[in-house]
Amino acid sequence: MEPMAIRDILIHPDPRLKTVANPVTDFDDRLRVLADDMLETMYDAPGIGLAAPQVGVLKRLLVMDCVKEEDAPPRPMVLINPAVTWLSEDCATHEEGCLSIPEQFAEIERPAEVEVTWNDLEGKQETERFEGIWATCVQHEIDHLNGKLFIDYLKPLRRQMITRKMKKLKREQARA
Ligand code: NI
Repeated sequence: MEPMAIRDILIHPDPRLKTVANPVTDFDDRLRVLADDMLETMYDAPGIGLAAPQVGVLKRLLVMDCVKEEDAPPRPMVLINPAVTWLSEDCATHEEGCLSIPEQFAEIERPAEVEVTWNDLEGKQETERFEGIWATCVQHEIDHLNGKLFIDYLKPLRRQMITRKMKKLKREQARA
């Protein structure tokens, strides 16, 4: 097995972040390496969620760990082919950010609770109901698998302003 590696995170705008990702069909060692790398990349960033398209892999896989308490054990989760099977009518607003849109944050309203079914790394089906920051995070990451970013919920003017900032950031990074 290859050692774990931190992968480069794509910065918006990038066509790969606007692409609908493909279902995972092979539950092999390569998938395990991808999941391990994504978790390491997410913790290193640091972030609470990361979707495969953000590291340039157009597969329906996401990782997350929304444990906030410093003394609580981490809960690294790997969700493959996740599907939302139920949404609450109640909505909640959380401030969201994104590792592909660094240092930009916005209040986004989403269903407060969500039930998701997914495959684990062996292909076994899992189902769980998420609430609070976990519900926000899993919906944000599933959006990534469908080529959608949190700024797509904002008014066009605000979205364009953020996109301009990101283009500038990418130009600066390219020069560095
Ligand atoms: Ni994101």
